[in-house]
Amino acid sequence: MRKNIIRELINSKDNFVSGQFISEKYNITRAGVSKIIKKLREDGYQIESITNKGYRLLMKSDTLEMAYLDFDESWILGKEYFYFDKIDSTSIYAKKIAADQPEGTIIISEKQTNGKGRLGRSWDSEYKSGIWMSIILKPNILPSEASIMTQVAAAAIVNALNKTCDCDAKIKWPNDIVCGDKKICGILTEMSGEIDHLNYVVLGIGVNVNQKQEEISQEISFKATSISQYLGRDISRDVVLQAILAELDYFYRKFISGKCLNEIIEICKYNSATLGKNVKVIKDNEIIEGKAMDIDSMGQLIIQDNHDKEIKIISGEVSVRGLYGYI
Ligand code: BTN
Repeated sequence: MRKNIIRELINSKDNFVSGQFISEKYNITRAGVSKIIKKLREDGYQIESITNKGYRLLMKSDTLEMAYLDFDESWILGKEYFYFDKIDSTSIYAKKIAADQPEGTIIISEKQTNGKGRLGRSWDSEYKSGIWMSIILKPNILPSEASIMTQVAAAAIVNALNKTCDCDAKIKWPNDIVCGDKKICGILTEMSGEIDHLNYVVLGIGVNVNQKQEEISQEISFKATSISQYLGRDISRDVVLQAILAELDYFYRKFISGKCLNEIIEICKYNSATLGKNVKVIKDNEIIEGKAMDIDSMGQLIIQDNHDKEIKIISGEVSVRGLYGYI
């Protein structure tokens, strides 16, 4: 009911919506409507009320509650949406429920107390400072192909950020999104499967949206920033979230219908912060230094090493000269 009332308020824009109208449309008492309005005000929504006119939304609360998001019926994403004020990690939760949930299920939290990054690192996820979400997907691909999902997500995120924030976001292969020379988003792709069968993929996406630089922990502030810090203005998290979901749904649907891996790879190449740069990669305990030349049709990075040998890597920790203080 709360979501319906928020939607009514949002949809009626600058006009008033009467308590009577809501009560009849949703079969709820007038007292029930005022109780929900009271709770919404407590949660930060600014709602004007005038006798005989009704309610008008003056300012949305800064939340990623589903009510703001405009899911299309045809979408795969968002059929189920779990929203938390606080959770340990949306990816931990996603993995717990993945077997019993439809693909496209979204888990989002305003804060994570145990956010997970790649390679066992932690991920700072302060209250309402960014977008912390995990998405359960069940593509019909082999476990060995699952890393391509990182490229699908990266292409969607970079497109969404450049369309909504105009922040010149680029992809540091394979799973970071950068603005300037610092990271603003990380993707953690995890999967469950057997040798020849993928059960599910959990795409964990963390976007630093509105942190001030001093709010970014000291150990990572040389390599991490937020979109607002990069642009010098605050950003609407719900607008960015909506755009990421729309782009991801679009690319994922094309991907599973077998149509657009090339398009996705082209976006990754066009927006790459890695290609053409000198890189250092640790592979099988060996350090490879060379130049990032290309991304192949499976999303692998092709490096020409300093002995002119071509090396392909499917995943790994890549240091890119010019980024994150690597000179
Ligand atoms: C990385 O760059 O190391 C990946 C970071 C991924 C962070 C996101 S935030 C939402 C989801 N839940 C987690 O615990 N981690 C991912």
